[in-house]
Amino acid sequence: MDSHFLLRRIHSLTGVVPVGLFLVYHLYLQLYLHYGAEIYNNEVNSFYDSPLATWALVIVVYIPLLFHSLLGVLLVFENKVQPSYTYFSHLLYWLQRISGIGVLLFIIAHVWNAKLGPWIAGTWGTHFEHLSSGFADPETGMLTKTVYLLGVLGAVFHFANGLNTFCMTWGIALTPTSQKRVRSFSFLVFIILTASAFYALAAIW
Ligand code: HEM
Repeated sequence: MDSHFLLRRIHSLTGVVPVGLFLVYHLYLQLYLHYGAEIYNNEVNSFYDSPLATWALVIVVYIPLLFHSLLGVLLVFENKVQPSYTYFSHLLYWLQRISGIGVLLFIIAHVWNAKLGPWIAGTWGTHFEHLSSGFADPETGMLTKTVYLLGVLGAVFHFANGLNTFCMTWGIALTPTSQKRVRSFSFLVFIILTASAFYALAAIW
């Protein structure tokens, strides 16, 4: 098997299985914002009660994410759009690449803002207060809200549309009918996750 083919497959797998599942779980956790500070902070913090939490994050999220992002950046420049693509497929092809770069920048800013910054300042743990005061800040609140909206939209689009390419790369959807079905499924995933994340954010808007 040539190494390019293998790398493409691992790239596709890391995007859906560890990183994609983390996104779904992470967005589900954000629904607890509607239950107020105490319950939300408890839900987020209780994950870290396990002595394996940090290892699980490094193995399941950070290493696959690093691999997926580095190879993703290389693929953006590879630029192998098929002449047979329709206008819509062309659009999705480019949006997948643009959203990938955007989500990478969002994740760096978000992990700094929600995790490393508070951790260095010794305030990590009061996530609800940190998020809601950031959103309410008269000077930077609007920018923070815009970054969250675009970051969530980009991440959900990148994951949902990635399900299509995953099914093609792994030979799961090869016929036009099965590709149509996968496209409908990924559209549904996009709508459900976007609605859920925006509903979660409405609690601290
Ligand atoms: C509804 C929007 C979101 C909210 C309110 C939110 C909130 C938070 C909070 C409070 C933390 C810090 C908690 C902790 O240390 O575990 C966090 C961490 C994190 N978030 Fe988000 N997040 C959102 C969307 C996203 C998206 C779209 C991604 C992209 C994949 C993402 C990726 C991460 C990562 C990688 C961490 C660090 C996890 C860790 O190392 O513990 N988040 N988020």
